[in-house]
Amino acid sequence: MPLFARTSRFMRVAVSSNCGPCTLEYAHGNEIPDTCRKGGVSSVSLTTAIDGSSMGRYTSQVLHSSHEMRQLVAQAHRVGQSVGLVPTMGALHRGHLSLVDASIGECDRTIVTIFVNPTQFLPGEDYDRYPRSVPADLELLSEYPVEWVFAPSVEEMYPRRFSTYVHPPAVSEPWEGVQRPGHFRGVTTVVLKLFHIIPADVAYFGHKDYQQSQVIRRMVEDLSLPITIRVCPTVRDPDGMALSSRNQYLQPHERNIGLSISQGLNLATDLVAQGERRASVVLERVRRVLEEAGVTSIDYVALVHPDTMESVSTINNPTLAIVAVWVGATRLIDNRLIG
Ligand code: PAJ
Repeated sequence: MPLFARTSRFMRVAVSSNCGPCTLEYAHGNEIPDTCRKGGVSSVSLTTAIDGSSMGRYTSQVLHSSHEMRQLVAQAHRVGQSVGLVPTMGALHRGHLSLVDASIGECDRTIVTIFVNPTQFLPGEDYDRYPRSVPADLELLSEYPVEWVFAPSVEEMYPRRFSTYVHPPAVSEPWEGVQRPGHFRGVTTVVLKLFHIIPADVAYFGHKDYQQSQVIRRMVEDLSLPITIRVCPTVRDPDGMALSSRNQYLQPHERNIGLSISQGLNLATDLVAQGERRASVVLERVRRVLEEAGVTSIDYVALVHPDTMESVSTINNPTLAIVAVWVGATRLIDNRLIG
């Protein structure tokens, strides 16, 4: 029986096949193969597919040293294995795990980095209170075959007298660049360092931080970095709220207010689907949704070209709606491709 079932997430799959002792295989986020991995023998049959908590557990090796990390990547490359990199600041949630899933599906080895990068936080931002929970992160990752977790110290990444920074590309300048001047300098600097420490074949980023993904793509292109960038879809709660480590800061009533972001983005999608082409009209309606829900302040609501991040006044081509608001002391961002 061919098994072209598609798993929604990593699954451990027990199989019996006609090649003998092969009884346990796994499939990740993609297709459950209809051939046994050992001999390419067809007619593998699915005997169990166990999702979630009852899955097998994996233990990632945690590294703190750049030197050791680089050596392990070199070893993997020497034996012809491809390496996927998922850079994070920890406080992992299903959004991060979807990137891990994508890497496992595409690469032989997956490395997750956990580093709350001080240079991308502005003075007065939430660097000190940013959630740090490496043991909880490792617990979540134990459901995934992630070989290595790189969790360097601040001193490892920024040794004494550190003073070299990346000047980020032009696409970093509007929106987040205006609201958080210096943020993308910190992001590009740490990501470039990570790419050097971990010369992976593919690196995975989330659509959730769309401008960041464009900044990284541009840096990779401009600096001829030998790495492929994949941008994976935003993972949301069932009510539409985009997952974010910062959602932890929200009180229940604030979360309800935050929900207006995805409601506003839904409205933008609907208006465009109904034929509205004037950006000013769409933006006004989205702002009203946010304000009526009680957001504390709006940093920006805009309709932009997805490549350049420049504002559009008429929606003719695929357009990105982007939103950044404050709910109490928490800053939330989200975006949606519309049109
Ligand atoms: P962090 O906020 O931890 O996010 C790590 C990656 O997860 C980013 O690529 C982000 O876009 C992605 N991500 C976050 N929420 C997501 C969601 N709901 N769905 C899908 N992907 C999601 O972004 C950073 O860290 C840092 O700036 C970093 C790139 C690690 C550099 O320090």
